[in-house]
Amino acid sequence: MYKTLVGALILCLGSLGTAAANELESDVGRVTYFKDVVPILQEHCQACHRPNGANLGGMVAPMSFTTYEETRPWARAIARKTAAKEMPPWHASPEQHGEFANERTMTEDEIAVFAKWAQTGVAKGNAADAPEPTMWSTGEGWTIGDPDLIIQMPERHFVDDDVEDEYKYFSHQLTEEQLPEDRWLKAVEFRSGSSVVHHIILDPLGGIAPGSDALVYPEGMGRKLRKGAKLTWQMHYHKEPGSGTGVWDQSSVAVKFYPKDVEVEHPVIGSYLGHLAFRIPAGDPNYSVQVDHTFKSPAKIVAFSPHMHLRGKSAKYEVTYPDGRREVLLEVPKYDFNWQTTYWYDDVKFMPKGSKLTFTSTWDNSEDNPYNPDPTVDVTYGEPTTDEMSFGFMDYIAADDSDA
Ligand code: HEC
Repeated sequence: MYKTLVGALILCLGSLGTAAANELESDVGRVTYFKDVVPILQEHCQACHRPNGANLGGMVAPMSFTTYEETRPWARAIARKTAAKEMPPWHASPEQHGEFANERTMTEDEIAVFAKWAQTGVAKGNAADAPEPTMWSTGEGWTIGDPDLIIQMPERHFVDDDVEDEYKYFSHQLTEEQLPEDRWLKAVEFRSGSSVVHHIILDPLGGIAPGSDALVYPEGMGRKLRKGAKLTWQMHYHKEPGSGTGVWDQSSVAVKFYPKDVEVEHPVIGSYLGHLAFRIPAGDPNYSVQVDHTFKSPAKIVAFSPHMHLRGKSAKYEVTYPDGRREVLLEVPKYDFNWQTTYWYDDVKFMPKGSKLTFTSTWDNSEDNPYNPDPTVDVTYGEPTTDEMSFGFMDYIAADDSDA
């Protein structure tokens, strides 16, 4: 079989001119940038790795992979990071979780292309083999496209030199000019105004923490933004203190609405499973707490978003159905504080009345956790990243039994 193939190939090459044959020969079976690498970069990497790439709550990819010249120096790092499944960033367990719409994973074949490209001399190949370049939205890096409304924090704020963690609240009311009537929200995207923004919660619009995507409601779902609404920005700034480290911040949020004539059928309800009364023993490498919630009426889960701080180790959402059946809905075995992902269901997840949802968060308060600021202290609930949190956020919509 192999011989026949080779024979056919030689025959075929023999009938071409030598120059063309050389070129063809050189690319046969060889991984090249234009032919093999570009399509994968477009699909899995460039959303972040491009000029003006996605700003996920302050997590901005440090380099761009849109040309051969930009990508080549990173070939080995790319092979390493993708083989280790550290890039693209996605922390849910592949075995245990459901199908999420914003999943960022690659096939083994795709990963192998990067490995082979790096090992075989990072060939450039022929530009004509590359697919059309991806046209990214022009909205100056807004991943939601051109916003209908951009709202800024009502004033600039200076985060002083000696600040390590600072919590600031700013309130203001939407003006008539900003929002003349109630509108259904379709998408919300935050933009931090400086590199020291750790997270933003903007009541009632939502929030971001490092690594979180823009919020885009699935078709037919949304939340209402009322005219004249009072907005409260809860800003958390975090940096290394020191002379000259102070910076100004004025963060902003961009919003897209449903068209005016669209009545959104499924208002989204935001909720959480939260634990406030825990004490993580000093040095404990594996300390867990659980909290549960029983649905008193049927619901459909839209999204999950687990939240802990620097000692966070893993997180799990599990359901026990009324008939006793159990199912792990989301498992994040290696929780990474830098990537606070909201896991959006591809298809909403139906919870019959009486389903019990359990959220488990596990911390590593030992010295083996490289992010642990102090393994010698017991840790309790608190806002600074050096204290801890245990929140299993979720978004859901009302359902009825016919939805089962
Ligand atoms: C959701 C946004 C996002 C996507 C998608 C993404 N990256 Fe990244 N990447 C980042 C950010 C942010 C960093 C820097 C922080 C970090 O290392 O976690 C990074 C860092 C890296 C690094 C490490 C550079 C170093 O300093 O060692 C490599 C290599 C890399 N990415 C390759 C890729 C490849 C290849 C893909 C696609 C297969 C990809 N990334 C997809 C956001 C992304």
